Formats: sequence, C-alpha cells, structure tokens
Amino acid sequence: MQYPLSEKYNTPELMAKIMGPNPVKLAEELLMKHQIPAGATVCDLGSGQGLSSVFMAKEYGFKVYAADLWSDPEQNRRFFEQMGLTEQQITPVKADATTLPFEKDFFDAVVSTDSYNYFGRDPDYLDQKLLAFVKPGGYTYITVPGMKKDCHDNLPAELLLSWTPEQLDYLHDVAYWKNIVGACKGAEVVCVEQMQSNEEVWSDWLMQENEYALGDRKAMEAGGGKYLNFIKIVLRKK
Ligand SMILES: C[S@@+](CC[C@H](N)C(=O)[O-])C[C@H]1O[C@@H](n2cnc3c(N)ncnc32)[C@H](O)[C@@H]1O
Repeated sequence: MQYPLSEKYNTPELMAKIMGPNPVKLAEELLMKHQIPAGATVCDLGSGQGLSSVFMAKEYGFKVYAADLWSDPEQNRRFFEQMGLTEQQITPVKADATTLPFEKDFFDAVVSTDSYNYFGRDPDYLDQKLLAFVKPGGYTYITVPGMKKDCHDNLPAELLLSWTPEQLDYLHDVAYWKNIVGACKGAEVVCVEQMQSNEEVWSDWLMQENEYALGDRKAMEAGGGKYLNFIKIVLRKK
C-alpha cells in the first residue's frame, strides 16, 4: 500500500523516535477516510515519543494532545519545538490512560496507535475511563498489534523466541477485540478489521538498532510475522 503522507517521516532521525512498528504509517492507514473535523482537538493516546502526534498536527491540522505514560513530556516538548510546532498546535501530557486528566467532552476525537492493547483489554475501559472525554458523536480510532487468529493455547515456537506468554497475551485477533469493544454501551462500533500495513510497519521497526527492535528480530526473522497483524477499531460516541 502507498503512504504518501508518511514518506517524509521516514528519516533515520525521526524513525529513532518510534517505539514499535512504524506508528506514522499505521496512523495514515487508520485515518484514511476519517471523520474527524478540520481543526479538531485530538488526543494521541499512548503517543510514545510523539512522532504520530507531530504527524497528525502537521498533516491533518489537528490540535493534538500527546498523552503518554512512559515517555518524558519535557523531551517530547523539545522535540515538538524542533519540529516547528507551537503549543497551540501540540501539547505533551504525562498521563495514565486509566485516569486521564482532561475535562469532560474535551476531545473531538481520540487516536491511539500501538498502545491501546496495554490498557484497553478491560471491557469496561471505554465506558468507565475514556468516553467521558470525547464529545458526543466524536470518533475514536485505534490500531493495535494483534494476531491473525488467537493461539494462546498453543503458542508458536517462533513467537516465543522474542516474547513470553505473558507478553503475547497483549496480542489478540479481530474476534477478541470485537467482543471487548462490543461490550461498550456509550459508543457504536463502526468497524473492527485487519489492516494492510503489517509487513511494512514491522520492517521499518526491525531496521532500528535499539534493544527492543533487536529483541523482536528473533521472532520475526524466524517467520513469526505470519501469525501477526494490526487491527483497526473505529468507534463513534453516542
Ligand atoms: C509500544 S509503545 C508505542 C508508542 C508509540 N505509539 C509508538 O508507536 O511509537 C506503547 C506506548 O503505550 C503507552 N502506555 C502503556 N500503558 C499506558 C497507560 N496506562 N497510559 C498511557 N499510555 C500507556 C506507553 O507509554 C508507550 O509509549
């Protein structure tokens, strides 16, 4: 598939910011034909070091809040300044997705790239922890790393080269995610489906030289990628 907006982010300096399979290409595929209004206030939930946040501020013109738990918001702020963005365009926030520090109905939309699987596997998460911050009618776009078919009872040896069964429990198939988000009362499920960009986004990640990418290479070089995919979830708040 083509990623016309992502290509200019594919530099060694910017790719050094990613914390998993290329979040910029994932965001581009996720937001194809999106329903987020121009100038919208958007939460990049689990933004990591903020490359997807920069991408959304620059390419889509959203006012972005880069909300993340593990990254350093001051470092993210410096990165956003280096990228020529103002505080009106993008704001780093240290936040736990289960106790978000925003006003009710604050966001026009939430976009979450490669992080929702850490905190969103609780079927009550949407109704109890997230949707209050989204305006009625607002969209939530989520992409999670997943499995083509859940195989937790018989985990393939290739996957176990890089990950423990506990780590693999973060990865699930479309049926699992339909069940989790389908339990939500406050939003309509627009779609839960496999994405196309799996191979491409993994390839960008495995080229990185950090210890996490090196660790992931073992499973992927052994062919573990055939069990994996990325899953797109779109919700509309009632
Ligand atoms: C694999 S990294 C992906 C980061 C970024 N989206 C990217 O692709 O580079 C997962 C991210 O999920 C975030 N995360 C995990 N649990 C979280 C929580 N409870 N609240 C907020 N963010 C969380 C971490 O801070 C981390 O940045």
